[in-house]
Amino acid sequence: MVDSDRTIKQALLKQRGKVLWLTGLSSAGKTSLALLLQDKLLKMGHLTQVIDGDILRHGLNKDLGFSLNAREENIRRVSEVAKLFVNSGIITICCFISPTREIRKLAGEIIGKDDFIEVFVNASLETCEKRDVKGLYKKARSGMLPDFTGIDSPYEFPENPDLEVKTDQEDLESCTNLMINYLIPLITNQ
Ligand code: ADX
Repeated sequence: MVDSDRTIKQALLKQRGKVLWLTGLSSAGKTSLALLLQDKLLKMGHLTQVIDGDILRHGLNKDLGFSLNAREENIRRVSEVAKLFVNSGIITICCFISPTREIRKLAGEIIGKDDFIEVFVNASLETCEKRDVKGLYKKARSGMLPDFTGIDSPYEFPENPDLEVKTDQEDLESCTNLMINYLIPLITNQ
């Protein structure tokens, strides 16, 4: 894609493409935030696309497991997909645990640092485990689900995220508004 294609598409959409990269533990609230954010942005007239780990792992990436190598390949592929969307001027909201700094660095490099916004969806392991939206922590604790993030597979906290939302301290609405306030100047200044 040459730059002028993107410029034309962004002009059509009256917005600038960006990738919001939501990283955090399972049950931290990444998908809920992404869907609420998408809903608000669409109502404001912005075209968005959510790319979600749970969905992609049933399709494009269903051949991948959860070793660190497999997670890296997962993130490499989804970053390439996100890059296609952002190059079409679309606000792309990615929800992936993306557990290590190395893996998130790879995502930033593939997408390009000007388009990549790292959002740390922060909720303590204790809170996530209490929520256990999909019952996976329980399985992991009982030894039925090996390599589970936060239990027997690492999650490295982002050291310097562009934005941090604390879903165990603030409600979804406030966390989403934080993201909107951060994002709007970046997507509307041409
Ligand atoms: S990532 O680590 O490669 O970024 P991704 O976000 O795609 O992970 O997928 C995470 C989702 O897969 C979790 O929300 C959970 O529903 C499911 N899952 C299944 N097994 C595991 C596991 N071992 N570790 C983490 N998540 C798992």
